[in-house]
Amino acid sequence: MSFIHLKNLTKTFNHNEREAVKELNLSIDKGEIVTLLGPSGCGKTTTLRMIAGFETPSNGTIYIDGKAVAGQSHSLPPEKRGIGMVFQDYALFPHMTILKNVMFGLNRWKTQEKKARAREVLELVGLEDYAKRYPAQLSGGQQQRVALARALAPNPHVVLMDEPFSNLDAGLREKMRYDVTTILRKANTTAIIVTHDQKDAFAVSDKVAVMNEGIIQQVAAPKEMYRCPKNCFVAQFVGKTNLLTGMMDEDLKNIHTHIGKVSLPEESQKQLETVKLSIRPEGCKLVQEGTFCGRVQRVTYSGEYQELYVQLQNDVNHAEETMLIYAPVEQEIEVGKVVSFDINPALVALVD
Ligand SMILES: Nc1ncnc2c1ncn2[C@@H]1O[C@H](COP(=O)(O)OP(=O)(O)OP(=O)(O)O)[C@@H](O)[C@H]1O
Ligand SMILES: [Mg+2]
Repeated sequence: MSFIHLKNLTKTFNHNEREAVKELNLSIDKGEIVTLLGPSGCGKTTTLRMIAGFETPSNGTIYIDGKAVAGQSHSLPPEKRGIGMVFQDYALFPHMTILKNVMFGLNRWKTQEKKARAREVLELVGLEDYAKRYPAQLSGGQQQRVALARALAPNPHVVLMDEPFSNLDAGLREKMRYDVTTILRKANTTAIIVTHDQKDAFAVSDKVAVMNEGIIQQVAAPKEMYRCPKNCFVAQFVGKTNLLTGMMDEDLKNIHTHIGKVSLPEESQKQLETVKLSIRPEGCKLVQEGTFCGRVQRVTYSGEYQELYVQLQNDVNHAEETMLIYAPVEQEIEVGKVVSFDINPALVALVD
């Protein structure tokens, strides 16, 4: 069995309302970093709180290291689960020094050992010189690292982090993603991180679990999730995409859509039927004489590329179909211009 195993985990707060978390199954290996990614209200925090022991499941079982810590008949209290939790607002004690804050999680240790361990974890997060300061004298990113140090101090088997990067500016956020994963890997800690930001999730995780309305939609490594999203929700939540419908060709490798024939990266398992397609904007490449062409309707400059909304002729009902395409910033593109492009099959996926 995996190190953490969530089996049919369900939470209903009020009997007449729909489940906040519904029959959630997830397996996490020792040392893995997994993120729960999903929109506001989809049940991420509720899942984390059930694992930590702050919320009792309505149904299902939580196993940690082969032991059921929460289930039908029993529930292990939070302090006995070997879990460190980092709360979204860090929850540092303002009247205590950094050292005392970190020592707080070690109340059952001897004083001398407490100090030595607190200094050790402060060194791990690169804050050994800040031990005597108070939380208000630290930056947001430094406070975040103190919260992580406090969670890691008792040597937990598992660290749970709720939206750890949401209060940080873009630059600090990127640095913290790297710092946090480096620290977790060094300590070989298994971690579950909650976020609603796809970039956070992709940057820090071995595995991402996308949730919607209390239900896990897909669990996969970031690259696989982006390249092969299971359904329309996942395709749209982990990046921008173009969704089209079409009819599968006999060769099971090409789809006849309203804008023309689109190729898949490999032969599909599906049969001759109507299918849905996700085409990533960076999979559409502007070329001199491409298979597809359309008129540029809108150009948005993002700094790294230009987002082009291109209107294509729909051959079947002559309605317009708009596609999003990324173009290099150095290319001169004006609204109204006709552009031609090819689609890279590697960025095309069948979705449910
Ligand atoms: N104590 C509670 N009592 C009743 N309903 C609750 C309680 N806690 C959460 N909920 C409901 O459960 C659902 C899931 O909430 P949860 O906090 O897990 O979402 P979330 O994915 O963490 O969202 P966010 O990204 O906004 O933090 C929501 O509909 C919420 O209103
Ligand atoms: Mg939440």
